[in-house]
Amino acid sequence: LSQILFKNPNEPPMVFHWFPFIGSTVTYGMDPPRFFKENRDKFGDTFTFILLGKKTTVAVGPAGNDFILNGKLKDVNAEEIYTVLTTPVFGKDVVYDCPNAKLMEQKKFMKIALTTEAFRSYVPIIAGEVQSYFKKNADFKPKTGIIDIPKKMAEITIFTASHALQGSAVRSRFDETLAALYHDLDMGFTPINFMLHWAPLPWNRKRDYAQRTVASIYMDIIKDRRANGDAHEEHDMMKHLMNSTYKNGTPVPDHEVAHMMIALLMAGQHSSSSTSSWIMLRLAQNPEIMEELLQEQINALGADLPPLQYEDLAKLPLNQAIIKETLRIHAPIHSIMRAVKQPMPVPGTKYVIPPSHVLLAAPGVSASDPQYFPNPDAWDPHRWEADSPNAPSIVRNGAVEEEEKIDYGYGLVSKGAGSPYLPFGAGRHRCIGEQFANVQLQTIVAETVRAFKFSNVDGSRNLIGTDYASLFSRPLEPAKIRYERRD
Ligand code: HEM
Repeated sequence: LSQILFKNPNEPPMVFHWFPFIGSTVTYGMDPPRFFKENRDKFGDTFTFILLGKKTTVAVGPAGNDFILNGKLKDVNAEEIYTVLTTPVFGKDVVYDCPNAKLMEQKKFMKIALTTEAFRSYVPIIAGEVQSYFKKNADFKPKTGIIDIPKKMAEITIFTASHALQGSAVRSRFDETLAALYHDLDMGFTPINFMLHWAPLPWNRKRDYAQRTVASIYMDIIKDRRANGDAHEEHDMMKHLMNSTYKNGTPVPDHEVAHMMIALLMAGQHSSSSTSSWIMLRLAQNPEIMEELLQEQINALGADLPPLQYEDLAKLPLNQAIIKETLRIHAPIHSIMRAVKQPMPVPGTKYVIPPSHVLLAAPGVSASDPQYFPNPDAWDPHRWEADSPNAPSIVRNGAVEEEEKIDYGYGLVSKGAGSPYLPFGAGRHRCIGEQFANVQLQTIVAETVRAFKFSNVDGSRNLIGTDYASLFSRPLEPAKIRYERRD
């Protein structure tokens, strides 16, 4: 009754719930995309629900994405939401443990390091890591076998990303200490830690120890690189950050370089490893696409399949579309949140969102809306070709070329206003790792297709469900597939 009686007409409709603090936490948490769709059908694009006692207003669709993700600094704030979770894991003075202006400078340093020259050097590094993983890993030794794909992809992702972005000195430490330490850091990166980040729980103590130890390993490597120079000419991110200087003339201190390294690896690890797992599961579900991918490489690069180079990736449009299409359906970040700082009128509605609310953007909703993507539940990489019957309007109309760009302090980024497809976010907090993730994923897929045929264990075309219990959605485990070596 109170939900009806005390309703403020200027606030969006509230999703009905029985219990005050719990609200819709459980229905939301079990399947966020379904929760968003059901309530959008009931209430329209803007509605509010209770998430752990907090009034959380969802705004979906391209206009909702724009409203939240391009919100002004005086109106919306990310660090207030994320810092309890990220600061114990990343460390002090970086990302959300500093004013937004400093994060914008840090993102600029990271982005500048990701040049074409750097990508050119990364492709052979990533390809080499994937090949050696397939050669050395005992589970891939037999001619055919069954593997739990997310476990393998998690390792391949961390080996490739650490080697490319952090250099060979860091990569060599992953086989010993760093893998276990990152595992403990990961334990601090779960939804339960939004509430219990401060508690002296065993996994929080492990997290704090792991953070200190990883940071000190990085700082030792930084000191060593500063003192002795680099053994090789590497284009890694660590080297670039070590030589960056803030606008006020202060060089980036070593502890900040170390903490940014942790942040980058954590940000990239979960999203890329979830995405590559989904790609492999989709290929097992659609073995004919895997053959098409191999044929594409043979046609574009030659039947002897020479070692992959950065320039080759642009010659493989289906290989690129696999990633685009997988991120459309399986974007690892389903909810993006901001604290509201000022009353915010929602354009085109009578609603005003008060500062007591949290805003939640869910770009996945428009990415699976038939209004923009015909036949949205079909995983169809060919839909990204303009003449496909499933081609989205953004491809058919060429609207991608006309995107509005804006500079929030870390170089021009697309505003994403009006785009139904934003797996990398938009605005001030937009991903700087998009290009790296694409290079990494395209290289991993191209190498995997050369080495294996995949199929579902039971020969069906089924797909495993999604695990929403961690912060980044990913396949439920175990997610087993059958491989056959091509030799
Ligand atoms: C931000 C997605 C890979 C580094 C974001 C955001 C999204 C996203 C949606 C916006 C978050 C927000 O607005 O709160 C993805 C996906 C990836 C990926 C889908 C892979 C498939 C990477 C990689 C790196 C990275 C590989 C590092 C090399 C970052 C950073 C931010 C970010 C530094 C900025 C956070 C901020 O400004 O608040 N990413 N990302 N990401 N991502 Fe990624």
